[in-house]
Amino acid sequence: MQTVAVLSLKGGVGKTTVVLGLASAALRRGARTLVVDLDPQCNATQTLDPDETEATLADVLENPTASVLKAAIAPSSWDGEVDVMVGSEELETLNEPDPGARRLEKLGRALAELRHLLADGELPYQLVLMDCPPSLGRLTRSALVAAQGALLVTEPTMYAVAGAQRAFEAVENTRDEHNANLVALGVVVNKVRTHSYEHQFRIQELRESFGRLVMPVALPDRLAVQQAQGACMPIHQWQTPGAREVSLAFNLLLARVLRTGSRGRHNAVTWPTDEAEAVTE
Ligand SMILES: Nc1ncnc2c1ncn2[C@@H]1O[C@H](COP(=O)(O)OP(=O)(O)O)[C@@H](O)[C@H]1O
Ligand SMILES: [Mg+2]
Repeated sequence: MQTVAVLSLKGGVGKTTVVLGLASAALRRGARTLVVDLDPQCNATQTLDPDETEATLADVLENPTASVLKAAIAPSSWDGEVDVMVGSEELETLNEPDPGARRLEKLGRALAELRHLLADGELPYQLVLMDCPPSLGRLTRSALVAAQGALLVTEPTMYAVAGAQRAFEAVENTRDEHNANLVALGVVVNKVRTHSYEHQFRIQELRESFGRLVMPVALPDRLAVQQAQGACMPIHQWQTPGAREVSLAFNLLLARVLRTGSRGRHNAVTWPTDEAEAVTE
């Protein structure tokens, strides 16, 4: 089971879109996936559209036992392969700026419990994707403490690039203080317009800051993303040229996330530059 926190410290850049796109690509590959919705806005839960549950992630963060965990997880309306640990507005009240180590570790304890259930043949997930809110309080930090990999999302704009740099510092700090095994999987550049000089400039700036951590697979700005989300459908099932383009990018991104994550932190930035360039800028 591979666990990935998807974060940026800026809202609206595409964290939820990346989580949903990777879940959609995983569905296509037949990899059982759990989306953990840490954002009090609950956008991932909305698009995955599960039936009502008896508990939510807010309960799990208070009491990470197997029974609470199971009560907070439901199948998505997409397919049996993608489940969701449902978000809740209540998460906002749990997003303390300085929660202390014990509270920061509760999500990690919940994922450890999930691994036990996996070993017992229950809840057989290959991938856990954590959708973070755009702040560095307890929720995002819990995800970094619990995850094996951190995937940063940014747009090619000035403020978003600054947000990605702060998010990367948060990853480094969490690795130093709480989670020595945390791997920076890379920086995904989203909403790219191919012919925009400004976007090319910002992508170059990102490469100067992050080097090879910038994913060679950029996600193009396509209306299909919003249409599929609004229809509560995986992007891979949205049959338009724009959706196909974005889906292909997510397939490549998922392959990289799985490959980099399984290699461990020392090789985290040494990707081969083979398949993806066709979809880049
Ligand atoms: N590649 C894209 N092309 C078009 N629209 C996008 C793309 N990525 C995200 N969006 C839209 O931008 C908005 C913000 O994206 P979202 O994933 O909710 O960001 P975040 O989770 O970081 O706040 C949403 O309306 C989403 O549909
Ligand atoms: Mg979001």
